[in-house]
Amino acid sequence: MKELGESTRSVHAGFEPDEKTGSVQTPIFQTSTYVQSDFAEHTGYEYSRTQNPTRDALQEAVAILESPGVKAYGSAFASGMAAISTVTQLLESGSHIIAASDLYGGTGRYFDQVLSKFGIETTYSELGPGDLEACARENTKMLWLETPTNPLLNIHDIAELSAKAHERGWLVVVDNTFASPVLQRPLELGADISCSSSTKYVAGHSDVISGYVVTRSEELNEKIRFLQNTIGAVPSPLDCFLILRGIRTLAIRMERHCDNAEYLAQKLSSHPKVTRLLYPGLEGHGGHDVAASQMRRFGGMISLEIEGGEAAARRFAKASKLFTTAESLGGVESLINHPWSMTHAATPEARRLEVGVTPGLVRLSVGIEDAEDLWKDIENALNASS
Ligand SMILES: Cc1ncc(COP(=O)(O)O)c(C=O)c1O
Repeated sequence: MKELGESTRSVHAGFEPDEKTGSVQTPIFQTSTYVQSDFAEHTGYEYSRTQNPTRDALQEAVAILESPGVKAYGSAFASGMAAISTVTQLLESGSHIIAASDLYGGTGRYFDQVLSKFGIETTYSELGPGDLEACARENTKMLWLETPTNPLLNIHDIAELSAKAHERGWLVVVDNTFASPVLQRPLELGADISCSSSTKYVAGHSDVISGYVVTRSEELNEKIRFLQNTIGAVPSPLDCFLILRGIRTLAIRMERHCDNAEYLAQKLSSHPKVTRLLYPGLEGHGGHDVAASQMRRFGGMISLEIEGGEAAARRFAKASKLFTTAESLGGVESLINHPWSMTHAATPEARRLEVGVTPGLVRLSVGIEDAEDLWKDIENALNASS
């Protein structure tokens, strides 16, 4: 599938008409168990926590999207956090993780409040020159990247950091949620594992919670599949169907998300009320060049601060008619989020301030509406913010 374009790949990835009925769409195999012709003799499907044909089709699709052309293995989970927590179960107690300092708040909460109880410590770092070496410990086993980051849209150089981590024998995991595999493919850049909250762009319609993990390593895949079955945080067959349906339009949606976000970012960049604007597609963004080299386009997320801080941000959100205030991102509809009090409330306040998640910051998930309508709405909301 390497030679195909993004849209063709999205439509055809893991697409297998049902052999028995010819059903063009993958059926929803809503069953917990399967008939056995004799004790322990079955078709390969025995119990739906272990295998389910709708989930198989989804797992195949995400593997192709994340690694077209090179065999990869996908595993689907009941949420992005289920995917993330399962990946960290690859580690032994006493291991150490180095993670980017600006991460989705739920990932940091899991590292700090759950993994730490099992003797796995995390060091957060800006991952600038010399930082990996400075953070390295004898027991470091994993480098955890998120790029672009949530919510500051920082960019990390996946190829460079993976090469450095591999010199030391660390496993490299990239949370690819913000880019989606249409815009960025971490495995092609050297990462060992690409994981994602498919709740976001991949499913794309704000109607399902889900996650996945993809690796090219057969050995890692065996371990992940063992953990998937053993821990059991698997998605339902209906959810798998919904994610697959979302995938069919992923490439076309991403183009529109990017068109709209690029347009809004340009407009916002010259607006007098905007005091801080974060979008990797802008030339002045610190990670612009790396983003241009490792991403196809710059994505649909924009973060900004408005003159007047948190109070102005609140008035801005209330005045907007098209950006709905809600958690999450990556759906067809535009959303606005206040990381300080919503997605990143669980991150310790000092760390939030240190990395730049301020009380005045708002994060926009730019949907696929008409760009001009979105701009008019934002302009009105900015005018109402003071
Ligand atoms: C970058 C990132 N990773 C992981 C997650 C967790 O995903 P889920 O909410 O599907 O568990 C989120 C959720 O917002 C996220 O933004």
